[in-house]
Amino acid sequence: MSRWTGRWPTDGIAFGADYNPEQWPREVWAEDVSLMQEAGVNLVSLGIFSWGQLEPEEGRFEFDWLDEILDLLHGAGIGVDLATPSAAPPVWLHLQHPEMLPVDADGLRFTHGSRESWCVSSPVIRHHATRIARVLAERYGHHPAVKMWHVSNELACHNGRCYCDVSAAAFRDWLGKQYADVDALNLAWGTAFWGQRYTSFEQILPPRRTTTIPNPGQRLDFERFSSDAFVAHLEAEAAVLREVTPHLPVTTNYMVMGDFHQIDYQATTPLVDIVSNDHYLWAENPRGWAELAFSADRVRGLSGGRPWLLMEHSTSAVNWQPRNLAKEPGQMLRNSLQHVARGSDGVLFFQWRQSRAGAEKYHSGMVPHAGRDSDVFRSVTELGAVLGRLAEVRGSVVPRSRVALLWDTAAWWASDLEAHPSVDVQYLDVARDLHGALLDAGVAVDVLPASAALDGYDVVLVPTLYLAPSDLSDRLSGVVSRGGQVLVTYFSGIVDQADRVILGGYPGAFRDLLGVRVEEFAPLPADGVVSLSDGSVGTVWSERLVATGAEVLATFADGPSAGRPGLTRRSVEGGGGAWYLSTRLDGPSVAALLDRVLSDAGVEPVVPSPGGLEVVRRSSDTGSWLFAINHTGTDLPLRASGTDLVRGASHSSGDRVPARGVVVLRED
Ligand code: GLA
Repeated sequence: MSRWTGRWPTDGIAFGADYNPEQWPREVWAEDVSLMQEAGVNLVSLGIFSWGQLEPEEGRFEFDWLDEILDLLHGAGIGVDLATPSAAPPVWLHLQHPEMLPVDADGLRFTHGSRESWCVSSPVIRHHATRIARVLAERYGHHPAVKMWHVSNELACHNGRCYCDVSAAAFRDWLGKQYADVDALNLAWGTAFWGQRYTSFEQILPPRRTTTIPNPGQRLDFERFSSDAFVAHLEAEAAVLREVTPHLPVTTNYMVMGDFHQIDYQATTPLVDIVSNDHYLWAENPRGWAELAFSADRVRGLSGGRPWLLMEHSTSAVNWQPRNLAKEPGQMLRNSLQHVARGSDGVLFFQWRQSRAGAEKYHSGMVPHAGRDSDVFRSVTELGAVLGRLAEVRGSVVPRSRVALLWDTAAWWASDLEAHPSVDVQYLDVARDLHGALLDAGVAVDVLPASAALDGYDVVLVPTLYLAPSDLSDRLSGVVSRGGQVLVTYFSGIVDQADRVILGGYPGAFRDLLGVRVEEFAPLPADGVVSLSDGSVGTVWSERLVATGAEVLATFADGPSAGRPGLTRRSVEGGGGAWYLSTRLDGPSVAALLDRVLSDAGVEPVVPSPGGLEVVRRSSDTGSWLFAINHTGTDLPLRASGTDLVRGASHSSGDRVPARGVVVLRED
């Protein structure tokens, strides 16, 4: 994280949206601002896609509309998170420089007419994006409405990988810096296989479409290279903003949601002053709230535990899923407060006013097509009022947990590579299983990048970390030797940093730590199920494992690894344990296993609560706040007392949280 120590952009919890006034005639603006005041909005992101409006021809600027809107917002006491507009370059730039458009792995060049249509390695976009950033910083950086910078938008969302000739040259440059010479690259990429040997860097291309399986080392390096290119783009824009306006914090909206992993966000955190994130539910997922909690915990991990900002989510439906279900009554409030519970000091949406035209006109907004007289706008004003009452929470943190769960973007990239033992091993599945089970048990967890320091953690969970940081085994040994519990699951620590298998029996990186040696993977057929001797049920995976220095806690009772260990524990003097699980457990079995691991470490829930009642604490020097979010259709008891800031009433231990409702207690 940057060392920025300035003020948060709002006094209380930030509340607002992306605001795109350029989509509306001026008459609407005054109504916008008065509705914003009615709803309690205090921050809007402006100008995200406005480059074409601001600079309709190269060097000719139209600022009057932005001048006017900034003054209007300022007059109403609404702060602005001003964007650099690089997510949507103007048409003239595309026409002048068609070479800036990205190219896919099949060699097809995209066309302008949407957004993010640029190759991140293009010097053209770098030049023009930093140029317009400077223009905006110089003109608006001291406007009193402007509270922070929003660099571009969801970097790499649509243009994450480009295979054009400019990218190819940049990739070769990048490789030249990673490898001493081309022989070192040949060794790392294993090019002796299929005679892929290179005799000079000049022969190397991005992993464009090949006849069959491409070289995995090349693929993995291309992921790293592409991510680094976006980090460099962010750095370039942020450097201009910091040079001109050192007083303003800089952010960029991450996409820590679902399966997006085009950027290693951990590498960007030193470049932002406030970590912010966009989150959209997958509307048909009945456990979408658990996915939301997982995302929010990952963001808090990236933010080093400090408050972060929910930059976008939706008031109701999105428009880009197969079936865009509207949110149920009360769901927006629950979703928003889940993010706040897990460390966000803001609740922002895409977007303020639902568009009338364009690609996203069926995406909900704070002001829907129906206008002010609508349930959506009424629930928006209700949310604004609740957030107003939660102002005192701002700046508090989710206390550090004793439990950590590790994830890593490079491991994800490597795990995604082609021709692996089973398509049913999907990188985040087991992480989600474990996080979901902790959620149901009411146990707080810090979801951390795998490079994070592990001091102070008593339980560390390492799900399917196929490619592990080279020092991780030592850090995990440290946890175990001071009496902590470490749980590693199958398909972890298999390869080195270049995706070459660590020989001598899997999991090469963790064999000694765990006291196990796997001779052969034995994945299950589609929908295959195995039973273990302790009554648990496995799916997806099994292994032919030998316990070399660990106690066998359960063996496979059937399936391709029948009679072999499925769950082991290497015990260390002082109570420490290194657990290894070689299958994907079903829900009840995960819960039972975690119960054993947590009780060995003496970890308790935040507040013992029934399933479906999500309970999270935030605290500061001045107090503590307990968020209780009821995801069920039944009123559920909360065993804690204080003042419920949502209803403004006192709450005694055992009083109920209404079905599908939320209680936020200022604790006694
Ligand atoms: C992303 C983008 C927004 C908008 C929303 C729609 O989050 O940043 O501009 O497209 O998706 O869900």
